[in-house]
Amino acid sequence: MSEVKKIAVLGGDGIGPEVVGEALKVLQKTEELFGYKFETEHGLFGGIAIDEKGTPLPQETLDLCKSADAVLLGAVGGPKWDNNSKELRPETGLLGIRKELGLFSNIRPANVFDCLKEASTLKPEVLEGTDLIVVRELTGGIYFGEKFRREGANGEEAVDTCAYSVQEIERIARQAFDIAMTRGKKLASVDKANVLETSRLWREVVIRVAEEYPEVELEHILVDNCAMQLLRRPSSFDVIVTENMFGDILSDEAAMLTGSIGMLSSASLGEGSFGLYEPVHGSAPDIAGQEISNPIATILSVALMFRLTFGYHDAAKSIEDAVEEVLNAGNRTTDIAVDKSKALSTSQMGDLIIAAMKK
Ligand code: NAI
Ligand code: MG
Repeated sequence: MSEVKKIAVLGGDGIGPEVVGEALKVLQKTEELFGYKFETEHGLFGGIAIDEKGTPLPQETLDLCKSADAVLLGAVGGPKWDNNSKELRPETGLLGIRKELGLFSNIRPANVFDCLKEASTLKPEVLEGTDLIVVRELTGGIYFGEKFRREGANGEEAVDTCAYSVQEIERIARQAFDIAMTRGKKLASVDKANVLETSRLWREVVIRVAEEYPEVELEHILVDNCAMQLLRRPSSFDVIVTENMFGDILSDEAAMLTGSIGMLSSASLGEGSFGLYEPVHGSAPDIAGQEISNPIATILSVALMFRLTFGYHDAAKSIEDAVEEVLNAGNRTTDIAVDKSKALSTSQMGDLIIAAMKK
């Protein structure tokens, strides 16, 4: 008997609750197949929490997340709250939860499903075999540096500063090496060490941490070159680790290799095994309530949770294989369907995936 894992479930807004509903079916099927035990508890978060509690991140939701082993999040936001003041916006809840839970890295896998290769803008032969993860530092760098305006020699100037400490680089590097150890044992560290001092420190620290991981093959690559190589030889990458702003850009670029936003999972991690898992997409207000959203991104986020937080690699593989099998059989939700008239509903897709899961 394995111990019970507690998962805080935050459905959020728009399509969030419906895609999370399908992910919960996957949890239940995993219990039946593998004997793992999950305890799920729901919390209010985002726009719905603003409506019911007057704040996007109520204290009881935060307490729930802190008492859990992992958090599963749908998505938050929508036009209803767009004109609210900053404290009453769903996005403020997102920033708050990351900060409160100490989540300093964002993990985004981009793997290409063979049967969806045609959906990408890249040539199928270039995409063949692409299966990579971008590990992005989330709480440092230029986005969080000191910012100000000043009077310069030629008038008004704006200044953004970029800072990284050894400790910040060490912890993200270690996390990336740990992830590489569970996969293809290849790590590409992305920087701009030819011009930036923070990048020179980044490279020094990554080289030092690499000594703890002699099995991992380490490559240093300049960010501009990495942007090119992602399009030219995406399948040669395994794990990519980089600082905040470079990661913001490269993770979106990598996401587009796969075709649809409805397929992309993500994790935010801190110290230890705790993590927050969510689809990359938002609350999709344009299709909310129609039961046509693609639940695969959220279902694959559960697989990521199994791998990175619980170490349940067998169950993760079962989910990933089931998704592949269902897609190979031609099943599609509208976002990835060529013939939209044959598209499945959210729950039909979820049901097919749990039916295809095997031990
Ligand atoms: P979005 O990702 O919600 O939607 C972009 C487009 O992709 C829409 O046409 C939508 O219908 C489609 N789409 C997204 N997920 C899909 C799925 N699972 N199945 C089928 N189609 C899907 O991004 P958008 O429209 O920019 O933002 C909508 C709201 O979501 C905003 O309030 C935004 O702030 C919020 N948002 C929240 C995020 C989060 O909770 N982490 C992340 C991104 C946006
Ligand atoms: Mg972005």
